[in-house]
Amino acid sequence: MIEQSDVEVEVEEPEPEDDSSDDGVDVTGGDVTAGDEDAEDEEVTLIPGGAALGGPVADTVLGPMELPTILAIANQKGGVGKTTTTVNLGAALAELDYRVLVVDLDPQGNATTGLGINARDLEHSVYDVIMADTPVEDCIESTSLKNLFLVPATIDLSGAEIELVPAFSRELKLRRALEQIKDEYDFTLIDCPPSLGLLTINGLAAADDVIVPIQCEYYALEGLGQLLRNVSLVRGSLNPALDVRGIVLTMYDGRTRLAAQVEDEVRTHFGPKVYKTVIPRTVRLGEAPSFGQPIIVFDPTSRGPQPTGTWRRK
Ligand SMILES: Nc1ncnc2c1ncn2[C@@H]1O[C@H](COP(=O)(O)OP(=O)(O)OP(=O)(O)O)[C@@H](O)[C@H]1O
Ligand SMILES: [Mg+2]
Repeated sequence: MIEQSDVEVEVEEPEPEDDSSDDGVDVTGGDVTAGDEDAEDEEVTLIPGGAALGGPVADTVLGPMELPTILAIANQKGGVGKTTTTVNLGAALAELDYRVLVVDLDPQGNATTGLGINARDLEHSVYDVIMADTPVEDCIESTSLKNLFLVPATIDLSGAEIELVPAFSRELKLRRALEQIKDEYDFTLIDCPPSLGLLTINGLAAADDVIVPIQCEYYALEGLGQLLRNVSLVRGSLNPALDVRGIVLTMYDGRTRLAAQVEDEVRTHFGPKVYKTVIPRTVRLGEAPSFGQPIIVFDPTSRGPQPTGTWRRK
């Protein structure tokens, strides 16, 4: 059993208040591209919605993480690195000897294939857990790492979004299911789909905290206000303990000025919530899923698995 004090989350010192975040926001600002010399001194706001992104959910720094814990990796924006974060954070924690369960809550099943599981060979999946009350134990798969386990998803899950609508306690299906096994895993990581539908609500309702990956690209923060509002709503109605644990910047391309600008803006808005560690864009990290392997197995020398630095044993 791991004591609460064994794990801590590294957070940055809060950044100085920036009054400019209260100013009006230029949502257009569209012609900033990497290497655009004319834009050098232009002031550009990359956060549509600006100050509205702050508030109680966004800026509270949480204390040390208590284990076991369930973390939802969520952002309704597609392709921002949710699955890559889930799979590789899970693998990195498993390497550190934590028992880790990845729950694939996305009908695309990317975490499932990314961990080398073929959906066609499965008897049960997370769909059965949510829609047919199948015990989670019955669908847990082992992976190439000893301490890393998976609740897989298949394409069936795409029907669940609609099938759940008339279901009783439809938002709490996953939470109820995970309550049965939570104590067996130090970390349960839920890979949410790119939507704010009932599957994501199930993920948020089941989680202790949320981790939000943000891709270092223009429009990276579009819709983030909506996600944070949903976190507040779920906290208010379904899961009083829910909070945003951290924001992780992903696919950071240090050669572009845009990446640095996005980082600056995100840190200005969410200072202490943003992990110091930034995930670089690396070819090997993009290739690893097609081999069904986390990066630490596929290429242990890659700079990809840096998020381990944010959860460390003392
Ligand atoms: N740091 C990185 N460097 C290079 N490629 C990356 C990196 N992170 C993610 N990718 C690639 O970017 C794509 C999107 O990443 P990923 O699938 O993790 O995003 P996602 O948010 O889970 O997407 P979706 O919303 O569709 O579920 C994938 O092809 C992935 O391999
Ligand atoms: Mg994904």
